[in-house]
Amino acid sequence: MNLAIEHVTKKYGNHHAIDDISCEFSNGVYGILGANGSGKTTLMRMLATVTTPTAGIIRVNGKNILSLGDDYRDMIGYLPQHIGLYKNFTADKFLHYIAALKGLSKKEAALKIEELLDLVNLMDVRKKKVGTFSGGMKQRIGIAQALLNDPKILIVDEPTAGLDPKERIRFRNLLSSISGERIVLLSTHIVSDIEFIAKEVLILKNGRLLHKRNPQELLHEIAGKVWLVTTAESEIPRYQDMFKVGNIVRSESRVELRIISDDRPSLAAILTTPNLEDLYLYFFEEDFDAGPVKV
Ligand SMILES: Nc1ncnc2c1ncn2[C@@H]1O[C@H](COP(=O)(O)OP(=O)(O)O)[C@@H](O)[C@H]1O
Ligand SMILES: [Mg+2]
Repeated sequence: MNLAIEHVTKKYGNHHAIDDISCEFSNGVYGILGANGSGKTTLMRMLATVTTPTAGIIRVNGKNILSLGDDYRDMIGYLPQHIGLYKNFTADKFLHYIAALKGLSKKEAALKIEELLDLVNLMDVRKKKVGTFSGGMKQRIGIAQALLNDPKILIVDEPTAGLDPKERIRFRNLLSSISGERIVLLSTHIVSDIEFIAKEVLILKNGRLLHKRNPQELLHEIAGKVWLVTTAESEIPRYQDMFKVGNIVRSESRVELRIISDDRPSLAAILTTPNLEDLYLYFFEEDFDAGPVKV
């Protein structure tokens, strides 16, 4: 399976929600990381054919997805950022309803729904109304509906928003477990959602694709730029004015600041190992000193 985005742009009026993006995907999990407004939902809606590009083409195995029409839609599963669940439907009835919309026969649907309720761990609540579900349960039934047609391309838009840490881990493991023979595209602004499961991370900023690389390669980008500085509490504002400051750890009378900076922020600063949170700060926190983000 090959999915290719070729010079895709989406404009709303004069505003470029997506600005000339090109990239390719093969089987595996891809994390699409970007702050609010960076264009994640717009990109996913185009991939799901809910909206069309202003310019550019999206191809699957070489064919334009728009000319494939329903043949393409049969290949994809989509969990939108804000999914409308039918609150008064039971989990079972909801999945049967979506299965019918997707054109599964009753027999196929019954088999598939058994399998999916088991996969997403909702078997024991299948007769309960989805309106009574927790956030995590709603997202899991959302994934189940997206998987009904056994899609080769699964598109999930900020699925972990509003989930507690335990639910997030469970959801992450679920996505990882189903990623074998398909392309999974997962958008998020939470680094830990994708740190361990994504084979590649795409960094979107203002509708542009800054990077598409595996997490380890991305970390090289900020090697030698993450520092620990031990200082006094009263010095924090001064550092915050001059540098990007991440974690602040307090102990007794001193504080330890995690600072992302091209240059050594103070004589006593020591280099430390970068993580993806640092990378996020590097790309998305506003600079005071370093000017625009390097591409
Ligand atoms: N239907 C729309 N009409 C006008 N502007 C839109 C529309 N959808 C998105 N945008 C704008 O496009 C940009 C990207 O939005 P979006 O794709 O929702 O980003 P994200 O999902 O990363 O938060 C934002 O500036 C947003 O305001
Ligand atoms: Mg969004």
